[in-house]
Amino acid sequence: MDFWEVIEGRFSARSYTSREVPDEAIDKILAAIESAPSAGNLQSYKVVVVRDEGLRRKLADASSHQGWMARAPVFLVFFADLDQFMTRYGEAHIDTMPLQDATIAMAYAQLAAFNLGLGCCWIGTFARYDAQRICGLKGNLQFTGILTIGHTTESKPRRRRRKPREWSISL
Ligand SMILES: Cc1cc2nc3c(=O)[nH]c(=O)nc-3n(C[C@H](O)[C@H](O)[C@H](O)COP(=O)(O)O)c2cc1C
Repeated sequence: MDFWEVIEGRFSARSYTSREVPDEAIDKILAAIESAPSAGNLQSYKVVVVRDEGLRRKLADASSHQGWMARAPVFLVFFADLDQFMTRYGEAHIDTMPLQDATIAMAYAQLAAFNLGLGCCWIGTFARYDAQRICGLKGNLQFTGILTIGHTTESKPRRRRRKPREWSISL
């Protein structure tokens, strides 16, 4: 797919078939994340690949009980890694930059998944108090979001978008 096909074709898929997502596809998505910009090139994020069904159910429950999520065979769970950021920058900008790194990583992953022919949906921070414990991670992490990933039979719905004239400002 060319760049604009990916940008314009991507949509949030919320139903998935039982077809597995191969490890090679996940590796490509992780490679896309690796190429993303990050503050000081520190890549201040952690990305957890969750295939375990029990953990997916717990994460779906913690995400405001969005039960449909668990039918996606893979979740990528994103955290900003504050310890990694502090190795160079200390506490300056700790409240914004690691979260920006992790958010950019999620956006790259979402576009890469679509480019690989996979469906995907961004899940917000409902699981902010539970995700780290559910994933069994230690460290100074800030939960950023979950991408559900799988094969989908959905097609892109027509959605109204606010046009640039409604939100862009020229000075
Ligand atoms: C920060 C953020 C949080 C979101 N959280 C959820 C969510 O919890 N559940 C869900 O079904 N979709 C969620 N979405 C997906 C949006 O609903 C979706 O991107 C939006 O409606 C536009 O549709 P599109 O992605 O198909 O273009 C989220 C998207 C973003 C960027």
